[in-house]
Amino acid sequence: MASYPSLVLVVLLLFSSFHVNSSSTSPSEEAHALLKWKDSLDGETLSALSSWVLPPSHGDAANSSQYCGNWFGISCKAGKVLDINLTNTGLVGTLQNFPFSNLPNLKGLNLSYNSLYGTIPVQITNLSKLNYIDFFTNNFSGEIPVEIDQLTSLQTLDLGKNHLSGSIPSSLCDFSNLTFLALASNRFSGSIPPSLGNLTNLKFLYLYDNEFSGSIPSEIENLKSLVELDLSVNNLIGSIPKNLRNLTNLNILSLSTNQLSGSIPFEIGNLKSLAELSLGQNFLSGPIPSSLGHISVKAHFIQNAGKHVDLVWISAKW
Ligand SMILES: *[C@@H]1O[C@H](CO)[C@@H](O)[C@H](O)[C@H]1NC(C)=O
Ligand SMILES: *[C@@H]1O[C@H](CO)[C@@H](O)[C@H](O)[C@H]1NC(C)=O
Ligand SMILES: *[C@@H]1O[C@H](CO)[C@@H](O)[C@H](O)[C@H]1NC(C)=O
Ligand SMILES: *[C@@H]1O[C@H](CO)[C@@H](O)[C@H](O)[C@H]1NC(C)=O
Ligand SMILES: *[C@@H]1O[C@H](CO)[C@@H](O)[C@H](O)[C@H]1NC(C)=O
Ligand SMILES: *[C@@H]1O[C@H](CO)[C@@H](O)[C@H](O)[C@H]1NC(C)=O
Ligand SMILES: *[C@@H]1O[C@H](CO)[C@@H](O)[C@H](O)[C@H]1NC(C)=O
Ligand SMILES: *[C@@H]1O[C@H](CO)[C@@H](O)[C@H](O)[C@H]1NC(C)=O
Repeated sequence: MASYPSLVLVVLLLFSSFHVNSSSTSPSEEAHALLKWKDSLDGETLSALSSWVLPPSHGDAANSSQYCGNWFGISCKAGKVLDINLTNTGLVGTLQNFPFSNLPNLKGLNLSYNSLYGTIPVQITNLSKLNYIDFFTNNFSGEIPVEIDQLTSLQTLDLGKNHLSGSIPSSLCDFSNLTFLALASNRFSGSIPPSLGNLTNLKFLYLYDNEFSGSIPSEIENLKSLVELDLSVNNLIGSIPKNLRNLTNLNILSLSTNQLSGSIPFEIGNLKSLAELSLGQNFLSGPIPSSLGHISVKAHFIQNAGKHVDLVWISAKW
């Protein structure tokens, strides 16, 4: 008689461990995890996700391609979520219940143009296969998790137009495959870390409309793939680094609306691919360098008593 309760316990334990094991490989797991996040979102905005329902006869025996196969914004194969594109879906809510550790195959996460708020959880680093994160235009706040550069497959990181603050983590070395980094229109502050120069595959770097201070790090010369560099509308000081001349693929360079001083480096004229140069609203002084003299069309300079280049807008073939 005395052994009866412990026998029940053993049977229960066996049953529950069997159940846990089987559900971790179940095709329904990722769908269930996404539904938990859906349930956490603001109910009134969820009509867009009305296709997010389980198949009629769900359970491990159901046809696995039925899980999340026809869900709006979800691209999924045999129950494995590969891509999430919920751009402009009217979502209101947070990522606190987002199933970061349940989506090991996720390659893309596009949540742009929604009203998601709260912090970006550090668990985002669990999505180790991510190629892109696009959170452009949401209400996220707080700081970027320092560990985010563990997402070594990341090629695109767009956190623009949110309410994020803090500084750029200075240890970005693992981010070597990043080609697109946009932190524009937030409340980031602190200096631009020299380690940004490690991101040698970067093509697009948008840091405009923040509160960055300090000078432009000279390590920026390592970003030889850069096509567009926009650091405008910040509190940057010091002079325009001469070694911007090394960015020979640069198409757009905008440093306007900062507190940059000194003269425009002659070397800027060596940027053969440059189509747009914007240096206005700084404390630049001195003449327009002769290296810029051969610019043919629509070069528009307004100089203020020889001290202040109020606007330099060039749209031209070099
Ligand atoms: C599973 O469902 C898909 C689409 O509904 C169908 O093409 C496929 O044949 C089904 N597979 C099985 C084994 O029933
Ligand atoms: C993402 O979704 C939007 C709207 O549903 C659609 O217009 C766009 O083409 C999708 N993007 C991709 C890459 O599938
Ligand atoms: C996210 O979706 C928007 C709208 O479809 C699109 O413009 C943007 O390029 C997408 N982001 C990425 C990284 O693919
Ligand atoms: C998002 O931020 C905007 C501007 O700050 C605000 O008007 C709006 O109410 C916010 N939405 C949510 C859902 O927090
Ligand atoms: C998910 O990320 C957190 C925070 O970085 C970490 O502690 C945890 O071990 C990760 N889990 C998995 C399954 O990778
Ligand atoms: C970077 O991209 C290359 C080519 O796509 C790939 O082979 C490599 O594994 C990636 N590096 C990391 C750290 O993911
Ligand atoms: C990254 O940049 C910093 C500062 O420029 C440098 O000291 C460090 O060695 C670089 N790390 C890697 C992995 O390249
Ligand atoms: C930048 O360009 C100058 C002059 O062309 C060259 O001497 C220097 O080595 C270059 N720097 C890098 C990091 O390539």
